[in-house]
Amino acid sequence: MTAPLRLPDSIVVDVALGARSYDIVIGRGTLASLGERIAALRPGARVAIVTDATVGRHHLAAAESALAASRIGSEVVTVAPGEGSKSFPVFQEVCEALIKARIERSDLVVALGGGVVGDLAGFAAATVRRGLDYVQVPTTLLAQVDSSVGGKTAIDSRHGKNLIGAFHQPILVVADTELLDTLPPREFRAGYAEVAKYGLLGDAAFFARLEADWRQVFAGGPAREQAIATSCRAKAAIVSRDERETGERALLNLGHTFGHALEAAAGFSDRLLHGEAISLGMVLAFQFSARRGVTGADTAERVAYHLAAVGLPTHLLEVPGGPPAADQMMDLIAQDKKVRRGRLTFILARGIGQAFVAPDVEADEVKGFLVEKLG
Ligand SMILES: NC(=O)c1ccc[n+]([C@@H]2O[C@H](COP(=O)([O-])OP(=O)(O)OC[C@H]3O[C@@H](n4cnc5c(N)ncnc54)[C@H](O)[C@@H]3O)[C@@H](O)[C@H]2O)c1
Ligand SMILES: [Zn+2]
Repeated sequence: MTAPLRLPDSIVVDVALGARSYDIVIGRGTLASLGERIAALRPGARVAIVTDATVGRHHLAAAESALAASRIGSEVVTVAPGEGSKSFPVFQEVCEALIKARIERSDLVVALGGGVVGDLAGFAAATVRRGLDYVQVPTTLLAQVDSSVGGKTAIDSRHGKNLIGAFHQPILVVADTELLDTLPPREFRAGYAEVAKYGLLGDAAFFARLEADWRQVFAGGPAREQAIATSCRAKAAIVSRDERETGERALLNLGHTFGHALEAAAGFSDRLLHGEAISLGMVLAFQFSARRGVTGADTAERVAYHLAAVGLPTHLLEVPGGPPAADQMMDLIAQDKKVRRGRLTFILARGIGQAFVAPDVEADEVKGFLVEKLG
């Protein structure tokens, strides 16, 4: 095997949030610059790396040596891989480990992993000693384009996902696209659903570029970096205008109402990954928009065609074990979102790149649509 091509340049995307602004550094091999960047931002800081066992096996040594190269000492906290680690017991373990390692207010937490590690370590950083600074080193495509950016951190409640958390922005995100080479293809594909989401919600030209170039995005190289950077720019722009989701940030939930219901019905298991559920959810959101007459049926078909081309599920019959019934879907939607006087807030689309928040969709109309789809 030949050594991977090392591009000298990385792409830097700025998340503009006043005093809490930070850079997202994207590129192949950027992990090697982690120590230098941390030393520049927080001279003299010590570091605790939080990771999961799988990511640790692949990438911990590289992270540690990147820190050591700048003479930064690091402690490591390793959790089990999987959503189960976004729990109170594991959160407690991580907090106690950070305190035991004497991570002080002037020190740093580094979240090395996918969205699970990022959400967990970010929430621990938000609370230990009333708030520690942290750096995201996302290692899944989903984490590089979505969860590491924007400062939402959380663990799960027995009543639902992400119900216990805080807004806490990182001081830096280092997205080394080379780390994605060890990611299972199914995980990469699931993360791609969120990449396509940015085109579908607000950037028709980006979606058209993905339709043309998705093979290169999957293969790696500059098209992958560009797609990740465009995704991060889109999220950063929305977050900087609406950090705490009082309005526009809700657009990022395109496909997520239907998607979360499908995920919940599958028990948040490997049966249906988050991105796979979001692929189905986005197709349903466009089909529902078409049924309401705000966009054409051909638009919904174009969305489904592209997502199916990359190998994502786009039809409810593809849900392993079969899709839930319409009634169950409605119950799950009602649990996920507040239904106010029989009305729901939905993200709909007037076309590709033209998503909007529809604040008063009749629950009965959604149910009618699902009955048509599911029988
Ligand atoms: N905070 C936010 O804004 C936000 C946004 C979207 C999703 N999320 C959260 O993100 C989580 C999902 O994140 P995810 O999809 O990254 O899942 P994950 O963190 O569970 O990672 C998926 C799997 O891939 C493994 N893995 C990670 N990086 C790897 C690599 N480079 N090589 C090999 N294996 C690797 C992990 O060990 C895990 O088994 C959910 O908990 C979700 O709620 C948060
Ligand atoms: Zn998502």
